[in-house]
Amino acid sequence: DSDLNKIQVTLNREKGTISRYVYGQFAEHLGRCIYDGVWVGTDSEIPNVNGIRQDVVEALKAIQVPVIRWPGGCFADEYHWKDGIGPTEERATIVNTHWGGVTENNHFGTHEFFELCRQVGAEAYINGNVGSGTVQEMQEWVEYMTMDGISPMSKLRRENGQDEPWKVNFFGVGNESWGCGGNMRPEYYADLYRRYQTYVRQYTKEPLYKIACGPNIDDYNWMDVLMKHAAPFMDGISLHHYALASVWEDKRPALGFPEKEWFSLIDSALKMDELITRHSTIMDKYDPDKRVGLIVDEWGSWLAVEPGTNPGFLYQQNTIRDAMIASLTLNIFHKHAERVQMANIAQMVNVLQAMILTEGAEMIKTPTYHVFDLYKNHQDATLVDADGAVSGTTSYTVSKKGGVMTASFCNYSLTDAETVTLSRVDGEFGEVTAEGIFGNKTDDHNSFENPEAVAKQAFTDFAVDGNEVTITLPPMSVVSLYAMEN
Ligand code: AHR
Repeated sequence: DSDLNKIQVTLNREKGTISRYVYGQFAEHLGRCIYDGVWVGTDSEIPNVNGIRQDVVEALKAIQVPVIRWPGGCFADEYHWKDGIGPTEERATIVNTHWGGVTENNHFGTHEFFELCRQVGAEAYINGNVGSGTVQEMQEWVEYMTMDGISPMSKLRRENGQDEPWKVNFFGVGNESWGCGGNMRPEYYADLYRRYQTYVRQYTKEPLYKIACGPNIDDYNWMDVLMKHAAPFMDGISLHHYALASVWEDKRPALGFPEKEWFSLIDSALKMDELITRHSTIMDKYDPDKRVGLIVDEWGSWLAVEPGTNPGFLYQQNTIRDAMIASLTLNIFHKHAERVQMANIAQMVNVLQAMILTEGAEMIKTPTYHVFDLYKNHQDATLVDADGAVSGTTSYTVSKKGGVMTASFCNYSLTDAETVTLSRVDGEFGEVTAEGIFGNKTDDHNSFENPEAVAKQAFTDFAVDGNEVTITLPPMSVVSLYAMEN
């Protein structure tokens, strides 16, 4: 087909805004995400500010993390926030039953989380406990965090050294309430959601964005029941979907990943498109104006843990393969910008499809990190009309912001390059540059010995001719092309 890989771009035809929040992160008390990955404590020899490691904060700032979801995940529904305030050494310990059965010392609690957000420049998405917590506990947490005036909880917060209230932008009412968060039926959770959210009071002028626990993958009935019974009480509803190469019980290794199963993993990631489409159709029935956001607050590849590591810690390496998963998934979110108001990749450091891996004082950035870097320009950018059929292994987004068009591509073929032409319908391109990350084999990754094996590089395999740019995308690549609007 001679029209294949020819994309017609109309920069003046705008298709909505890509929320920066789809670049959100998820940080749970799981394995070495918070402890080691973020929190080292004030006495650590690892350079830190108020106990939070500086190398990690610097790296996260560079990709402009807009929002961090915390404290879980499954952990959220057994987290009791009062255990995590007050003098550090006096805090109660608990057992993290979901994740390795390890003892949690609660050294990282509410104050430390907001300190992390402050240092990174990110907004806060707090996930409350419905599974094993009371309405009162949830209400008091919100009061503790956000009450400006005089109240029992604001008094307690002040006694613990924080005078000003913090800003909580997003609040989740339970996590995976159909599973680890209480094994509930949708009818039951819908009622609990209505009840709990009533007491998630607004103590500030700015509204708190309330998120209901949504479906697991393709549980369309859950979505229907929740929307039917609780839509007016929510601002967003979550969706969780992880990319797996095989069945849940038999996950594939991150290194030594069987290449013949590549397209099985890809299909699992691409399923996000169908899930968002079908869940949105159900949401449209009850919310035709698309007021309620679909919040994909857990996504990413879920592979086998690294040999010799705690199976409950979900520590996996990250390769060019994960970069392609990240790129094509972000492209899917962009396409659904109208409904997908936030997404949070699982997880930020040392867990599942992480941005960052640490080992003692060392830190490396993963290929996935570099995708978030390459995609920065899409945050709060205007999606533009970019139409055309591309090969079955190519995925792309075209947006504009501040006079620059950014076209990001993923070629997830393991063997073939793809040549793509962008033709601008409404004018010529100004100066064009490009950069990307590239692999030779799906296992290509960064290690502590070789931290820059997969890193962002300038890319020049493109030609500009007036209103046309032709770019050749190598196999296993993610590329962003930047063109001045002219
Ligand atoms: O991200 C790991 C876990 O996956 C989360 O805790 C849970 O919500 C999901 O099942």
